[in-house]
Amino acid sequence: MRRARILGVGMYLPERRVPNMELENIKELETSDEWIRQRTGINFRHFVSEGESGTDLAVHASKQAIIEAALTPEDIDFIIYATLSPDYFFPGNGCFLQDRLFPDRTIGAMDVRTQCCGFIYSLAMADSLIKSGHYDHILVVGTEVHSTALDFTSRGRDVTVLFGDGAGAVVVGPAPDGHPGILTTAMHSEGKYARELWTEYPASAHNPRLSHEALEQGRHYPKMNGRMVFKHAVTRMVEVSHEVLAKAGRTVDDIDLFLPHQANLRINQMVASQLGIQEEKMVNTISWTGNTTAATIPICMHEALRQDKLAENNLVLLTAFGAGFTWAASLLYW
Ligand code: ACO
Repeated sequence: MRRARILGVGMYLPERRVPNMELENIKELETSDEWIRQRTGINFRHFVSEGESGTDLAVHASKQAIIEAALTPEDIDFIIYATLSPDYFFPGNGCFLQDRLFPDRTIGAMDVRTQCCGFIYSLAMADSLIKSGHYDHILVVGTEVHSTALDFTSRGRDVTVLFGDGAGAVVVGPAPDGHPGILTTAMHSEGKYARELWTEYPASAHNPRLSHEALEQGRHYPKMNGRMVFKHAVTRMVEVSHEVLAKAGRTVDDIDLFLPHQANLRINQMVASQLGIQEEKMVNTISWTGNTTAATIPICMHEALRQDKLAENNLVLLTAFGAGFTWAASLLYW
């Protein structure tokens, strides 16, 4: 059976850069640059400008990934698009991206909704579709536009300071003979905690889907039980990393590069320490991206390449934890 690997990586952040001081200066938010830096490791994040959508960000990141893969748009057979912040309730962003990138070709496009794990889940789907011979080149995209749904008052400050907008993309295709490519992926969910990190409105579970009352109560903004999410994130990312290593018959010492999801620098330092991975083997982008959810891991990959920390045949561990709860890990040879 043929194997699948990542052939090219792209990323894009909107031009508008928002330093912590800009948030500190919003009086009603009642936060400070110092609190954000100390508790999260974030210095700034990027927000879209008026009229800029997740699909707009995806176009930039995808074009770069296709060029880096030394392919042309005609080579792409399928789109897998991960986001928790689609441009519209329906259809999914994959369709909007298909129209922007491949207007003359009716290739399939699907959306994946597993929040911070969206990229790893999507990569696993692409891996299977390539291995089975169903497709040759799949564009896997993660984007988020959080900034249009944040509560800029003290009520939402725990969440608001964490999130940033951005896009990351990869092209997945067949690995050359003898190259193991993507080794294995593990994916989990635990829906009993769904309401510990969620956005309740608008929702088809409510009739009407959005009400004046819900808007006044701020129930259309994300809500999070931060401490609980923090504890589960550390435990589960360590656990699932061990799971993929065991499945693939590798050990922590074999890992060349560790790319964890970026929700809080302290979470990643704890995970790396509990796994016994030296910090120099880890790439963190949170200080300049904030949490870009499904876009995070391809952005980290791009940064690892930029820093010359990722080379042919390196063993790479990806792991993420997020709303759902969901958690996942993937082990792959570059
Ligand atoms: N600015 C200033 N003070 C704040 C802010 C803020 N932005 N946010 C909270 N505080 C205050 C709290 O009100 C509290 O005050 P009190 O002691 O007077 O009650 C104090 O700071 C401490 O609050 P904690 O919630 O205990 O702070 P903690 O150190 O846990 O940090 C944080 C909060 C950063 C949210 C942390 O819990 C965290 O990172 N959680 C996990 C986030 C995560 O992993 N999310 C998952 C991915 S997101 C996704 O999947 C979509």
